[in-house]
Amino acid sequence: MAARFLVRLAGIAVVCIPGLARAYPGGTPDYQTDAAPYCAACHSSVTTSELEGAPGDRATKELVANKHIAQILAGAPNTGYAELSETERQALADQIRAIDAASKVRIQVPAQVSPGQVFEVEVTFTGGDGPVAGLALVDAAHRWYARPASSAGWQIVDVPIVRSGVMGSPDDPTKPADPLQLTWLDKRPAALGRNLSYVNVGGIKSSVDRQSYATGSVLWKVKAPAQPGTYPLAAAYFYGTELATPLGYKVDPKDPLKRAAPRGGFTGASGRVVFTALQQITVAQ
Ligand code: HEC
Repeated sequence: MAARFLVRLAGIAVVCIPGLARAYPGGTPDYQTDAAPYCAACHSSVTTSELEGAPGDRATKELVANKHIAQILAGAPNTGYAELSETERQALADQIRAIDAASKVRIQVPAQVSPGQVFEVEVTFTGGDGPVAGLALVDAAHRWYARPASSAGWQIVDVPIVRSGVMGSPDDPTKPADPLQLTWLDKRPAALGRNLSYVNVGGIKSSVDRQSYATGSVLWKVKAPAQPGTYPLAAAYFYGTELATPLGYKVDPKDPLKRAAPRGGFTGASGRVVFTALQQITVAQ
């Protein structure tokens, strides 16, 4: 199923906005490298704290309610939302709220490690519409200022271990690494190192109608800085919403493959970037 979505999106991307749409939505199918959250400019936020310090009302404008749901409710001109009736737009807004409520991310880290110690950081997530979810280790819970975790001195020492499946299904929670995920990491030449702080996690599929939500985790092996001190670490979670809802996607009737595209379009605000709480880890002997 997830594979079908991937194929659909990849196909659409070729037809629309070349270059741009090849990468978004669908995360970063072609780019196997560390990502920083500033890249997700089209995405919406669930809190203003993640844009603290942004000028004027910019942080408020980025909120889901203002950037995404308001467009739906208003049936904004030149968007797929304008084709829906008012009742349908209300229903879509409710469906989007449901996928957002089901989409969460959590980070588990030790409170203290020794200088140079290799330890595990586990990030678990739920929800997201699929076909992929994006997870990154960063040094701040901020859309504009966060850097890949390595900039703060954390070294990713191994290929991240990824699991994904559907909550409550037989493949939850210990399904082995998803084949799509392996394909994504495998696209990066081994000689460059696949110890990335960002991963596009495949095998993601959620349905608001069926109340069936994806879940997964990424396990990173991280080496602490050599210098004692207190170092910040957080996870960023990039996910989409519209493909998980019955009203949130469109299928081009002329498309023989009947591929789905988000109703808000490739430059719409149906993506999200959210963060875990910022962790302060003590590095001491
Ligand atoms: C041109 C606008 C745009 C930019 C820039 C953008 N995205 Fe997105 N992204 C979207 C949209 C729209 C969706 C949600 C589609 C949906 O609702 O299904 C999305 C969804 C996603 C998803 C979830 C997969 C999916 O298809 O739902 C991931 C992961 C993601 N983006 C990662 C990123 C990353 C990483 C960057 C920066 C490198 C980025 N995005 C930049 C528009 C964008």
